[in-house]
Amino acid sequence: MKNYIEINRNTWNNKVAVHVDSNFYDNESFIKGKSTLNNIELELLGNVKDKSILHLQCHFGQDTMSLARMGAQVTGIDLSDKAIAKAQELNLQLGLNSQYICCDVYETRQHTNELFDIVFSSYGTIGWLPDLDIWAKVISDSLKPNGIFVFAEFHPVVWMFDNDFKEVFYSYFNTEEIIEEEQGTYADRNANIEAKTITWNHSLTEVLNSLINNGLTIEIFNEYDYSPYTCFNNVEEFETNKFRIKNLGNKIPMVYSLRARKK
Ligand SMILES: C[S@@+](CC[C@H](N)C(=O)[O-])C[C@H]1O[C@@H](n2cnc3c(N)ncnc32)[C@H](O)[C@@H]1O
Repeated sequence: MKNYIEINRNTWNNKVAVHVDSNFYDNESFIKGKSTLNNIELELLGNVKDKSILHLQCHFGQDTMSLARMGAQVTGIDLSDKAIAKAQELNLQLGLNSQYICCDVYETRQHTNELFDIVFSSYGTIGWLPDLDIWAKVISDSLKPNGIFVFAEFHPVVWMFDNDFKEVFYSYFNTEEIIEEEQGTYADRNANIEAKTITWNHSLTEVLNSLINNGLTIEIFNEYDYSPYTCFNNVEEFETNKFRIKNLGNKIPMVYSLRARKK
């Protein structure tokens, strides 16, 4: 089962250069100062000035550095060595003080013994992890007492469909590992990369129970009938930066968010 780590790391390493150059990630605007964070997570994060933040699965660090620009002391972790190298390069270029660790999220506590005010993770993260109990324990073990976990993620209902959202393909529940091979990437469908991935769908019950069972209290939970990202096929932008699947409209949840507090 551990070979999922090598397969997924390889795929994420291949994506990094394409993502950095993509319109989707619009790194030029980010470099000029644009924040990559959305209202959904900003509302839950509140004022992060002088807060210590652990950012799980930070990719090449745009959100991490957006938090650093808001005055937070942020540490990003990610499995992809290419993503972490790019994040460190951007951090230097922009004169910021974010820090990075390259590791499997499950091994975070072997790389830092710092306790944080906030643990943050967003959009396209837990699907890469087979077991949310281990994930939630890492979050709990990383927080100071009374610290908060802020999470915004694509809704498991979205992952039930085929790529064109025409039919239900996969279970809502975590019944199997999902092995896929595709060309390109969500940030550039025509990119010349082949991506083999091993992922898991996680029901909301699984997410909430993993956090509750690891000593966190859910304070806020929201579901949204749109995505702030246009990373799916067949989408329409019905308001600025709000995307829905054309044939499904507002009938399905696309994103959820939560804030949980460590007791
Ligand atoms: C879609 S990105 C999420 C971040 C953010 N939404 C973004 O798009 O920049 C997913 C990230 O999870 C990382 N990842 C996948 N499996 C991981 C694991 N087991 N441990 C740590 N990071 C992992 C990937 O390397 C990738 O950078």
